[in-house]
Amino acid sequence: MIKVAILGYGTVGSGVFEIINENRDLITSKAKEEIEVKYVLDLRDFPGDPCEKVLVHDCNIILEDPEVEVVIEVMGGIKPAYDFVKSALLKGKSVCTSNKELVAAHGAELIKIAQEHSRNFLFEAAVGGGIPIIRPINMHITADKICEIAGILNGTTNYILTKMDKEGADFDSTLKQAQDLGYAERNPEADIEGYDAVRKIAILGSLATGKTVDYKEVYTEGISKITAEDFKYAKAMNRSIKLLGKCKNEDGVMVASVAPRLLSPNHPLYNVNDVVNGILVRGNMVGDLVFIGSGAGKLPTASAVVSDVVDSVRHLNVSTTIMWDDEKLELENFSKSKKKFFVRTSESKDKIENVFGEVKYVDAGIDGEVGFITKKISEEHFEEKAKELGNVISRIRIEE
Ligand code: HSE
Repeated sequence: MIKVAILGYGTVGSGVFEIINENRDLITSKAKEEIEVKYVLDLRDFPGDPCEKVLVHDCNIILEDPEVEVVIEVMGGIKPAYDFVKSALLKGKSVCTSNKELVAAHGAELIKIAQEHSRNFLFEAAVGGGIPIIRPINMHITADKICEIAGILNGTTNYILTKMDKEGADFDSTLKQAQDLGYAERNPEADIEGYDAVRKIAILGSLATGKTVDYKEVYTEGISKITAEDFKYAKAMNRSIKLLGKCKNEDGVMVASVAPRLLSPNHPLYNVNDVVNGILVRGNMVGDLVFIGSGAGKLPTASAVVSDVVDSVRHLNVSTTIMWDDEKLELENFSKSKKKFFVRTSESKDKIENVFGEVKYVDAGIDGEVGFITKKISEEHFEEKAKELGNVISRIRIEE
């Protein structure tokens, strides 16, 4: 019997508790040990809830109990999660977490501590919810140079963009639905402005390169400026708008970003809709691999956490190799990155052509403005030309 403790009884924590109890026999057969939740830590009380019998309010009870072999951190945020996780690892416990903020900020350090103690720090649920993506990148795609990772990494924003696209839904009410369904972060700005996705692409980029991608250095733009009119143009171009996290080798340098992009139907992630996440991994030998599945929500995320618990129990005193060093990956300045841009403006076609040269016009039947697609130019070049043009209503990057 292996005793575990759950830190945090929110959406994911209660899902972990439920899965361990509901699938007990199956999990026992896969882990080759029975797993028992000895403690649940939360500041709140849960009268009548099955967790009541094991609920504690003081983390030290868990940290000081040598019987607890695996700590499951599903509180989210950096404080106090970082202190609890670090202490647990230093005391020789394995830790499984869904906390992308923690992993993006301290991944390399926590992996190292776990390895020094022949224990594991696992975080499958931190990216892509229920999709197995951390383990494949770390354990399976090891014969390739990973040239590109592109992902729809945030379920809430994909849910909102899909509803806006397919149903013409309004932004605020769709966000409210995503919150009610348990997809959104406590502060929805983290979803909407791309702060959640940027941490996830930084984690994937770090695993792909073995060095630390500092999420603070990654260009980040959310979906708050995307409008119903943008979707009309997207339809006219036969494209969809997706919030894409990317980490890509462009001419020998790594470029990382999170931004809305216009995807054509032949892009592998074009049909990834609703709360579903999709991740394209492009290897120099294997070619394209695409991972698709539930990117947020109680049970999918908890399922990924419990899979890490099973892995930790299978490898109780053996440290899993995770190639992620604390040396920083040098990212190319995003302003040098080249692509085509879709632009909406109230300026005349003459002026557009004077500034941008030959462009391709897009007619979405909207009066008083013109939509056009530029040639492939760098971000900084585009910014200069956009200033010269004058009024730019919006601009969205075209994904090739
Ligand atoms: N708020 C996140 C999302 C939860 O919507 O994807 C999963 O990380």
